[in-house]
Amino acid sequence: MRFGVLTGGGDCPGLNAVIRAVVRNAIDGHGDHVIGFRDGWRGVLEDLADELTMESTRGILPRGGTILGSSRTNVYKREDGVQRVRETFARHRLDGLIAIGGEDTLGAAHRLHQDGLNVIGVPKTIDNDLGATDVTFGFDTALQVATEAIDRLHTTAESHNRILVVEVMGRHAGWIALHSGLAGGADVILIPELPFDIEEVCRLIDHRHARGRYFSIVVVAEGAAPKEGTMTVAAGQLDEFGHPRLGGIGHQLEREIEQRTGFETRATVLGHVQRGGSPTAYDRVLATRLGLAAVESAHQHAWGMMTALRGTQIELVPLGDAVTRLRTVPVDEYRRYGVLFG
Ligand code: F6P
Repeated sequence: MRFGVLTGGGDCPGLNAVIRAVVRNAIDGHGDHVIGFRDGWRGVLEDLADELTMESTRGILPRGGTILGSSRTNVYKREDGVQRVRETFARHRLDGLIAIGGEDTLGAAHRLHQDGLNVIGVPKTIDNDLGATDVTFGFDTALQVATEAIDRLHTTAESHNRILVVEVMGRHAGWIALHSGLAGGADVILIPELPFDIEEVCRLIDHRHARGRYFSIVVVAEGAAPKEGTMTVAAGQLDEFGHPRLGGIGHQLEREIEQRTGFETRATVLGHVQRGGSPTAYDRVLATRLGLAAVESAHQHAWGMMTALRGTQIELVPLGDAVTRLRTVPVDEYRRYGVLFG
């Protein structure tokens, strides 16, 4: 068989592990040819391609980022987008394409499959918010980075009796904020799924002070927002998929908390440090399993499907199930942790 592979959207640790597993299984396992497209869907639209070999993918397992590059290019924002994808398929005589991505990249993959192209998806995102899979690789690495940062901020917060606000990634889902906050013993955790009440945040901090704890850690997901009318929040620019560029809630909280409580407050925005660097062992293994399964799925002609972790098994699920429903933090589950706050 001949198939293409691309990585799209925000990069994440483990992408290279998928590419390596795809190449090994395809070439050594099946005698296939694998064409790597550069920079996500842009590489398919503009035919930026190189054949991947065992040699060109050697040593990439522990490397962060993606050797193929990534972009947030949207095929459906180009008038002739689908036609161009068809032409690239024909030029390389592709039997199909493996798209490794999150909601946007796989959303395009789903639509291309509906438009008659042979595509299989592999889920990735540090946000862990794709539907139809229990976990996405990249999340575990991001969680380790965020937890280590919280541990470090804890000691300096305590030394200086400060409130430290830590802004972590998470556009629609608060998994990184919730899990790193729980792992790091945060006093307040704010997630996009539940608009927060700034008065309640300050009440929790005051409550700690009243009990003789003069420092606090507030973990906030970048997509968290205040209840309407309680705080003004600046809007960001939009990308090709219409998502605003986030980042900023941490500093807004810093000002607001300091003004309202009178306690010295500082914000740290972890940003892209959460997406960079070497994947954890868990992410390497998950990424490898998903990559191996994607090649098997291509040989079964399971087009329009996505490899997914369900329980402990890798299974195939329709791409449509992954992109039509995001996996967000259940508000009930979040509320159960309330006793740990403040
Ligand atoms: O989708 C993953 C993610 O890391 C989000 O958490 C974040 O909002 C976004 O990507 C940032 O994207 P960019 O690197 O394009 O600014």
